[in-house]
Amino acid sequence: MPLLDAADPLDVRAAAQALAAGELLAFPTETVYGLGARADDDAAVQRIYAAKGRPAAHPLIVHAADMEQAQRFALQWPAAAQTLAKAFWPGPLTLIVTRAPGLAQAAAGDQGSIGLRVPAHPVAQALLHEAQRLGVPGVAAPSANRFGRVSATRAAHVVQEFGPELKVLDGGECPGGIESAIVDCTAAQPALLRPGLLPRATLEAALGVPLREPDEQSPRASGSLKAHYAPTARVRLMSSQQLRDALDVLGPQASSLRLAVYSRSRLRSARGVEHRLMPDDPAAAAHELFAALREFDARGAQLIWVEELPDSPEWEGMRDRLMRAAAA
Ligand code: TXA
Ligand code: MG
Repeated sequence: MPLLDAADPLDVRAAAQALAAGELLAFPTETVYGLGARADDDAAVQRIYAAKGRPAAHPLIVHAADMEQAQRFALQWPAAAQTLAKAFWPGPLTLIVTRAPGLAQAAAGDQGSIGLRVPAHPVAQALLHEAQRLGVPGVAAPSANRFGRVSATRAAHVVQEFGPELKVLDGGECPGGIESAIVDCTAAQPALLRPGLLPRATLEAALGVPLREPDEQSPRASGSLKAHYAPTARVRLMSSQQLRDALDVLGPQASSLRLAVYSRSRLRSARGVEHRLMPDDPAAAAHELFAALREFDARGAQLIWVEELPDSPEWEGMRDRLMRAAAA
């Protein structure tokens, strides 16, 4: 039975055994579900790329049970990595550091750097510790979705993406809902490669210096491709006024468009338009974002009009995901 129950210790052990045996296993983290394979098994890691349809040069994040296990993959451990890991691990933060030669080559997409994360989710923690006991040095795991698509925040989403054959450790809904922040620590001054659940200001406060923007020398992150995180329907970002005007203009014609509206403000609902209100609280909004996009898809929407998010720092990670969804 490919769905394993995270509340059952025997199932968690079976999940760890699957990883140890070189199988793929999807598991929950505090951000999104990951599609995991042991990081030291290049053949197992290749199966991740194949399942996702992801180009082989796009590196994966290696997940570790604790900082010590993570550090084994690093050639150097810069001061910035130490500061950030101490402040935020276990947690929704990925650090890019120089890779120890010969380790996790396929997982790192052959690059000289490696992305490392110690997740905080109790199920991920239990799984990674159990896998460690079985000799697994770390688990390479991208988000459990096909390349370019919306990440999975529930076990059922993972099944939608990969079918019923894949083993999934079901730990319910991921609390965070968007992916980890990624900080490149390979250069003298750390750079934010991908905004995420941890706000930039929180990271900068711990570091004591501002994070740089990535440049040509920065390691590449596929999550930073212009078009990514996309549902099947076309996503368009609009101001609340643009939304009102467009709905007014459409009037009763709206029903022929298979249109969904995901707004922050209460709008007069138009007939035939599926309307969903986004929570005011950024954490609650992030928690439901990808599930909401998937639900619009599932109900057959062809267009999703999303109200632009506030320009304030705590919305940065979500603004980033929605911009990329709209660029697809
Ligand atoms: O929250 C998360 O980070 C989730 C959970 C499962 O941990 N994982 C996730 O993985 O979002 P993925 O593969 O969907 O996104 C990871 C991003 C990719 O854009 C990848 O290119 C980048 O991290 N990345 C990984 N290793 C890297 C490296 N060595 N250099 C540059 N970018 C790297
Ligand atoms: Mg992803």
